[in-house]
Amino acid sequence: MKKRIVLLPGDGIGKEVINSAQDVLNAIAEEFNHSFTFETHEIGGAAIDLYGTPLPETTVDACKQADAVLLGAVGGPKWDNNPSHLRPERGLLGIRKALDLFANLRPIKGFKNLLHASPLKEEVVAGSDLLIVRELTGGIYFGTPSERRDNGQTVVDTLAYTRKEIERIVDKAFQAAQGRSGHLTSVDKANVLESSKMWREIVEEKKAQYPDVVVEHVLVDAAAMKLITNPTKFDVIVTENMFGDILSDEASVLTGSLGMLASASLSEDGVGLYEPVHGSAPDIAGKGIANPSAMILSAALMLRYSFQLNDEATLIEDAVQSVLDSGFHTADLHIPEGRQVGTEEMTRLIVDYIKSQN
Ligand code: NAI
Ligand code: MG
Repeated sequence: MKKRIVLLPGDGIGKEVINSAQDVLNAIAEEFNHSFTFETHEIGGAAIDLYGTPLPETTVDACKQADAVLLGAVGGPKWDNNPSHLRPERGLLGIRKALDLFANLRPIKGFKNLLHASPLKEEVVAGSDLLIVRELTGGIYFGTPSERRDNGQTVVDTLAYTRKEIERIVDKAFQAAQGRSGHLTSVDKANVLESSKMWREIVEEKKAQYPDVVVEHVLVDAAAMKLITNPTKFDVIVTENMFGDILSDEASVLTGSLGMLASASLSEDGVGLYEPVHGSAPDIAGKGIANPSAMILSAALMLRYSFQLNDEATLIEDAVQSVLDSGFHTADLHIPEGRQVGTEEMTRLIVDYIKSQN
């Protein structure tokens, strides 16, 4: 398979961990006879410094023409006092909008050997492995009117969804469930909200198209509780924008380290964008100690969702787990009796595992 991948390193540790993802993808290409070509473009602070804008047109055009995009992270103290149109984060929001990335997928896994890193009890977290599919471009964060009225005595926000917006995110979730254990939990507030009633109707309608997927509906308040009392009950969770925002942050405590969390942002037929959940980590940037796992696991998601290369994606995930199992870890993690390594060595260990398995 031949694919063109745009790399957007961004700032801080983004520049370091993107190299790790590229090394891992090169190893996968070699082992499976694929051809991946890479093109690097600027975003965020790096783009501000070079071109005076956080999102140059050349970057947007390159992303639109690519088969997939990998993004490191943006931001840093250097640009913190810039006016808002010259903030690095504008680049990130801009590219999500330009590529119509309506589906945000965040896999959350309690990695063996890291279970003690979670504030939750090890026996609760053990075996948890779930995927949150969040609608990213609709709902209450985008609805209008959103304003104050009556001299500030009344305030209104609007939760609006079109049928098409719900159908496309629900389809993505069903497809993701087919690629996993085939269990989908749809989270809503259908006992109160009209938008949730339609959400639930659409999930029920879609079921017929995906007979191999088992569907369950859970109200969001109950889901919030079950996520941390019984996380192993879940596989794929699909929900609207605000519920997904809250539940995905809640669920991230299952892993205990930002350096392990990957994400995918997908559009309908266009290009997907893959990035770690963490930021540019200015406190450790340039030291060669950043955990590359979140970025590498994001590259695995790219193989799975943009290129349908499931075996290759799974091999990368197994490689990360295996290296942790052997006790190797970066400075952000702690494994009792393990050995601490830097970004490059962690990457090399993951690459070596990939080469030894295929
Ligand atoms: P951060 O995620 O960059 O760092 C939080 C803490 O976690 C730091 O102590 C950092 O050293 C550590 N950390 C994060 N990723 C790590 C990794 N891979 N390996 C080892 N340690 C890691 O969040 P923070 O400090 O709030 O923000 C720093 C900058 O990043 C800000 O400019 C912020 O706006 C930006 N940011 C960008 C994001 C993005 O590009 N998607 C997301 C979050 C923040
Ligand atoms: Mg959030």
